[in-house]
Amino acid sequence: MKIIVVGGAEDTAKVAFQEIKATLKKKPNATICFPTGSSPLPLYKAMVADFKKSKTSYKNVVTFNLDEYKGLGAKHTQSYRYFMDTNLFNSIDVNKDNIHFPNGVIKDLNAECNRYHEELVNNHRDIQILGIGSNGHIGFNEPGTSFDSVTHVVSLSASTIRDNSRFFSSIKEVPKQAITMGLSEIIDSDKIILIATGINKAKAIRDCVKGPIDENCPASILQKHDNVILILDKEAASLL
Ligand code: GLP
Repeated sequence: MKIIVVGGAEDTAKVAFQEIKATLKKKPNATICFPTGSSPLPLYKAMVADFKKSKTSYKNVVTFNLDEYKGLGAKHTQSYRYFMDTNLFNSIDVNKDNIHFPNGVIKDLNAECNRYHEELVNNHRDIQILGIGSNGHIGFNEPGTSFDSVTHVVSLSASTIRDNSRFFSSIKEVPKQAITMGLSEIIDSDKIILIATGINKAKAIRDCVKGPIDENCPASILQKHDNVILILDKEAASLL
């Protein structure tokens, strides 16, 4: 694992964006899988600012996203699709037909998981970008999830519901379930970039990097991959 410790959130964006740009230069039709959450937000801001200034094109880029809440549609302001549309997709020239997203409002969620899995099988990722939960989850793969998992429906842990309640007006509004890419799909990417900032992530980062490769820390699966970059601020790196 390559670990890059930077001064703050804005700097995580600079480093991550350099990686994306370098890939796009070599491969303008790269497939990139994105996370949501506060950690990648500075990166998305940097991508939008650069698009306005330098016109880096995403026309041929194929995108995937890690996860979506059950029951929240694209127009719901807390859905992950809405987050991606408003923070990135609507502000760059990505072709809407190239955007792949799990649909959390479909009746048959298991069929939706199978559909998404097939799309992932047919579109190998060049870059997987990740955040990390304070309990070591990646995507919505909570501790105890099988390393062999593929896209599935999850029941969110109490700590994830609590962590994510900051985006909702009350904890009661946080969906209890979600669709997430599985761990075997997350590591099926040429390069993985994980961004973590803040003291709340320090323990998860320590377990991810230094702990045993164990399903109790889903992010520890990254130790099995030979092209992983962790971009951390000092607080997130403080227990390394
Ligand atoms: C959610 C998402 C994860 C994300 C995590 C951390 O649970 N499903 O993909 O990595 O939150 O979010 P944040 O970056 O806001 O701390």
